[in-house]
Amino acid sequence: MNVALLGLGNVGRAVFDILSKKEADIFKNYEVNVKYVLVRNVENKGIDKSLLTTNFEDILLDESIDVVIEMMGALVSYDYMKRALLASKHVITANKEVIANHYVELQEIAMKNKVKLLFEASVGGGIPIVHTMLNSAPFNHITKIEGILNGTTNFILTSMHKEKISFEEALKLAQIKGFAEADPTADLEGLDMVRKIAILSMIAYNSQIDLNNIYHYGISNVDKEIVEVIDLLDYKLKFIASSSLGESGIDITVEPVALRKSDLLANVDYEYNLIRYHGEGCATQMMYGKGAGPTTANSIVFDLGLVLSDYRQKFMPALSLESNGNVNVKARYIMKINDDFDMSIVEKSLGKMVISKEITGDKLNEISSTISFYARIID
Ligand code: HSE
Repeated sequence: MNVALLGLGNVGRAVFDILSKKEADIFKNYEVNVKYVLVRNVENKGIDKSLLTTNFEDILLDESIDVVIEMMGALVSYDYMKRALLASKHVITANKEVIANHYVELQEIAMKNKVKLLFEASVGGGIPIVHTMLNSAPFNHITKIEGILNGTTNFILTSMHKEKISFEEALKLAQIKGFAEADPTADLEGLDMVRKIAILSMIAYNSQIDLNNIYHYGISNVDKEIVEVIDLLDYKLKFIASSSLGESGIDITVEPVALRKSDLLANVDYEYNLIRYHGEGCATQMMYGKGAGPTTANSIVFDLGLVLSDYRQKFMPALSLESNGNVNVKARYIMKINDDFDMSIVEKSLGKMVISKEITGDKLNEISSTISFYARIID
């Protein structure tokens, strides 16, 4: 399978590395060959120069290219994706703007040309929420989706709460870490989340979504004082996307929310995302993970796996690895002890209750008859 990568930014480079190292199991059965990497200029890229091109036509006209992976997030992305599909090439993309605005048109072209249009990386970075939603929606009447869908703004708000730094400092850090869009206005004003919640709502409710009717209010004006007061009132400021299906249609908002500190969403920090959805069949489900940065590459490779094979239907475990139970687990334990307990492994004694030093599971098993209960401590 010959692949062309469009873009060599943070995600593009991470995908290039994964495809070059070929460590994932899938590459044991399938040959994946990166034949082109489309870049703006070929200087100082640190990869084999013969792979680099600045001309999309090279890729389009090369009939041996099976898959085009779009990771540029540029104005021309839509055009390139459309032309690749028209040329019967599978397209994998991280581009939420194009998917949110042009999915129906592109999917029609893909179907007509018997190729796939896959976009797992467009929502939630490395979290496989798109496929989960595609698998779940037809069997569950999904009525609600909510969550933190932008790593940059969550990183900014978390850093302002925890490190007490300014909005500008936090934004700079998010940019250095490669979470922010080229123009961070899309993150800060909520447009990035508008696109992501539109994509999830489209799948969940089986409906086209008009992006112009999504309400959004950004966080660009947040300052230290706002965060301080919200913190003092025992809330945490989060930037949340919510979508619900009601009798009169679909209500979607993207706005700052003050959440009780005990709320689960309030404890999703830094670049992490959490998506919670509710359906009649599945009740409430959640997915949590890194929503921005290099892990997004994993979602691209996940889609590539879907182009390569129906490996999910064919799954049969290939290895017989040793199962070690708890013997290698190292931990501290809180224990209720009997009289014959070995006190040399005690870190702190509270009468019949003790906190142990760090011991291995082996040791825990050895002393099990001298305790009546234990709980592993996770700090
Ligand atoms: N700028 C986006 C974010 C990248 O911060 O979530 C991942 O979509």
